[in-house]
Amino acid sequence: MVIFRKGSKINLRPIEKSDVPKLVEWVNDEETTRYLSIYLPMNTFDEENWVESLSKNKSTDIVFGIESLKEKELIGNIGLHQINSVARKANLGIFIGEEEYRGKGYGTEAIKKVIEYAFLSVNLRKITLSVLSFNERAKKCYKKCGFQVEGVFKEGFFKEGEYVDEIFMSIFRKDWQKQ
Ligand SMILES: CC(C)(COP(=O)(O)OP(=O)(O)OC[C@H]1O[C@@H](n2cnc3c(N)ncnc32)[C@H](O)[C@@H]1OP(=O)(O)O)[C@@H](O)C(=O)NCCC(=O)NCCS
Repeated sequence: MVIFRKGSKINLRPIEKSDVPKLVEWVNDEETTRYLSIYLPMNTFDEENWVESLSKNKSTDIVFGIESLKEKELIGNIGLHQINSVARKANLGIFIGEEEYRGKGYGTEAIKKVIEYAFLSVNLRKITLSVLSFNERAKKCYKKCGFQVEGVFKEGFFKEGEYVDEIFMSIFRKDWQKQ
């Protein structure tokens, strides 16, 4: 069992090619993608290419699989994207692909682990993210992790027949250290 960072409910570990079937299932699932920017069908070839790209792009994208500790099952992905080593910032992305694991604290723990890694191992200064305005669960989860709203891009996305606002949130290392 490969463990990169260990929590009390989850482990963070590298994504493997053997994870591709699960990834294909999740990125095509309507209930999951309604909260994400994905709107196209994704096949095995697309996901294999993505997994392959992770090995080549580690200076800008660091992605982990989220594994439940108890069942030792991959339940989602989390990553630091568009890492900017000059401004020392990155954009966080996450999804829990297995529906029965949502709303039970797994996302919060995975995010807290990645924040710690970003600030204490990658030496980042700021983590940003964006979330669709109707995604109440994600907004609550991010706030619990210490993210604060910076601003709104009005009608930045088109979802389910409507234009929706995109909320930008961030956390600074200096504020996280105080918590
Ligand atoms: C967003 C996501 C990562 C959060 O992870 P999670 O494990 O489900 O979240 P947590 O259980 O740690 O925290 C969610 C909080 O929101 C609450 N919540 C759940 N559903 C809610 C809802 N409909 N409205 C408001 N709050 C809600 C939970 O009760 C919990 O708060 P609490 O700990 O105070 O009780 C996960 O739900 C997910 O992947 N969703 C689908 C994809 C997605 O939205 N990705 C993020 C895109 S920006």
